[in-house]
Amino acid sequence: MNQANNVETSQENNIKTIGILTSGGDAPGMNGVIRSVTRTAINYGIKVIGIRRGYYGLLRGDVVELDARSVSDKSRVGGTFLMTARSQTFATAEGLQQACKMAQVFDLNALVTIGGDGTMRGAGDLAKLNVPVIHIPATIDNDVGCTDYTIGFDSALNTAINCVDKLRDTASSHERCSVIEVMGRKAGYLALHVGIATGAEIILIPEQPFDRDRDIIGKILLSRNRGKQHYIVVVAEGAAGGEEIAQYIETNTGTEARATVLGYLQRGGSPTYQDRYLASMFGIQAVKALVENRVNRVIVMQQGKVTDLDLFEGLEIKKTIDADNVKKANMLSI
Ligand code: F6P
Repeated sequence: MNQANNVETSQENNIKTIGILTSGGDAPGMNGVIRSVTRTAINYGIKVIGIRRGYYGLLRGDVVELDARSVSDKSRVGGTFLMTARSQTFATAEGLQQACKMAQVFDLNALVTIGGDGTMRGAGDLAKLNVPVIHIPATIDNDVGCTDYTIGFDSALNTAINCVDKLRDTASSHERCSVIEVMGRKAGYLALHVGIATGAEIILIPEQPFDRDRDIIGKILLSRNRGKQHYIVVVAEGAAGGEEIAQYIETNTGTEARATVLGYLQRGGSPTYQDRYLASMFGIQAVKALVENRVNRVIVMQQGKVTDLDLFEGLEIKKTIDADNVKKANMLSI
């Protein structure tokens, strides 16, 4: 069945059917990626099979064919309509064999995976077993080494900023310290950017070792002596627990401190302009790579450009937090 009304080319390559899945933690913008991949593929005369519930669904053959209409009006919706899961079985040798078998059962010439670093490693494992893949990085953590940007980061930032602004109102009325724990797993990108954008007095991230007395208590006391009456502390979940930091502050400064864990709020909500736009561009680039016979690629944003890299090279690239940004955050937080 060819649903394309504008078939550009389908003759020059062997890709006739692709599978697409979202895996791991969801991120706003994932739906936009599915829409973009689906519609671009259809334009090239390629059939798209949606795999529900990520790698777990792949193992179970849980699929649905996607057409142009089934991805209508999805870009503005958070979450992933294909649903997602974290599968332990997939990571085993038997699981990978079963996944390869399912790729054959559904005649998939390639698989597009959407997710964070765990999903990308899974894609690499499948590629090693000769399932051609394209990975599209999407996670609110922005911690995928080979790309400057992962889909969902901007939406999560905006959600978190909105919450911190509200918390500042009440911290200021009560002259309290508000400690806000943000997600990010082992990375501090969300915390650092939220902290800078909300003018936090203290930002704690896993990449930057800190001394509780010098870097938290000392800083709050100095600020208090300079006339500050309320404080915002943004802490990455990978650096410390928000509750524990709030208690330490209250005990050691006498200032009332309250902790708020933003948690899954950051993963939900309608994607921002940036995530909708880049979801569209990443999806187009993924299909472009396939029709140009480039497989086992990862779609990346580098120096403002959307392009694709060898998946295995991409897996080797480590990301480091911008030390200059940490210094700048400190400079502004007096
Ligand atoms: O990777 C995205 C993320 O939201 C992390 O920031 C967080 O640590 C983790 O997922 C939570 O995972 P789960 O949904 O399995 O609780």
